[in-house]
Amino acid sequence: MSRAIAHPNIALVKYWGKAETASNIPAVPSLSVTLDTFISETEVTAAKTDSVVLDGRVATDSKITDFLATVRAKHELPPLRIDSRNNFPTAAGLASSASGFAALVLALNAEFDLGWDDVAIADWARIGSGSAPRSLFGPMAQINGPDWIAKPVDATAMPELAVVVAITSKTRKTTSSSAGMAASKSTSPYFEPWVATAEADMNAARQAIAAGNFDALATVAEHSCMKMHALMLSTRPSLRYWNPTTLACLDAASEMQQDGLRVFCTVDAGPQLKAICTEDVAGAVAARLESIDGVLDVHVLGLGPGARVVA
Ligand code: DP6
Repeated sequence: MSRAIAHPNIALVKYWGKAETASNIPAVPSLSVTLDTFISETEVTAAKTDSVVLDGRVATDSKITDFLATVRAKHELPPLRIDSRNNFPTAAGLASSASGFAALVLALNAEFDLGWDDVAIADWARIGSGSAPRSLFGPMAQINGPDWIAKPVDATAMPELAVVVAITSKTRKTTSSSAGMAASKSTSPYFEPWVATAEADMNAARQAIAAGNFDALATVAEHSCMKMHALMLSTRPSLRYWNPTTLACLDAASEMQQDGLRVFCTVDAGPQLKAICTEDVAGAVAARLESIDGVLDVHVLGLGPGARVVA
C-alpha cells in the first residue's frame, strides 16, 4: 500500500480551455496558491479488480478510469484499489480533482515503482487534470508552455497570505470543467482573445509576486477571474457558475477594498467565493463574509506545502 496527500490549489491566473486534449495541454498558462488544512489523501493497493472509493463510498469516476487506461498504455499496472478521502466538500468549486490527482500520481509511482522523476510526475498529474500539477508544489505554483510542466513559484517576497473560502452552495456542479472548456472553445467569440491575453496576465502576476506587490497581484488576479467568467458566460449554452450569494460576496469584498483592507476575490467553476488577503485581516474578512445571507460556511486557510508520499 502507498499513500500520498495533496492540498487543493486556487488559481490566481486562471486555466480555462485546452490546446490539445490527448495529453491535456492547457490553452493558457496559470498560476495558483496551494492551501493548507484542506487535504486529499489517496491510497493505492494492488487488488483483484479495479475499484475506486471516494470518501468511503465505491464510486465510478470516468476521469480516474480514463487516466488509468492512459497509464496502462505505457506501464504494467495490476488491478488496483484507489481509496481517496477529502476533508473538504467535493465537486463544489474547491478543486478536489487537482489535489486528488496530485496525490494519486505520487501514490501510483511509489507503489508500483514506475520510476517517474519530477518532470514525469508533473506530466502525469496534468494528464489527470490540468490544475493537478499545481498541487504538487506550495505555497505557489505555475504551469506554462512550451513544456507545460508545473513548477513552484518563489513567493518569499510576498506578505503572509490567507485564503477565506465562503461556501455558498453544497450542491454538485452541473457542468464539469472539461465539458465547459470544450464548449467555450467551440462556441464563445471570446475564446481567442482570452488565449491571446493570458501570457500578459501571467507575466504581470509573476512580476507582482517577485516584487512582493499585493495590490498588483490583486489587480491581475481579479482581471483574470472576471475574464474567465466573461468567457464562460458567453459560451453557448451559457455557463453560469455564480449564484446571488457569490455576487453579494464580491460586492462585500469591493467594500472591504474601499475600506483599505488588502483583499481580492476569485471564483472558479462553482459558486464558492475565495477571498485572498493578507493574514492580518483574515479575521475581519471572514467575519464580513459570514454576515452575508446565503453564506453557509466560511473557512480561513493559510498557504500550504506541496504534495508528498506519507506511507
Ligand atoms: C476554473 O483542472 O478541473 O478551476 O484539466 O479538465 O481536469 P481539467 O480541468 P480542471 O480545471 C480547473 C479550472 C478552474 C481554473 C483553474 O484552476 O485554473
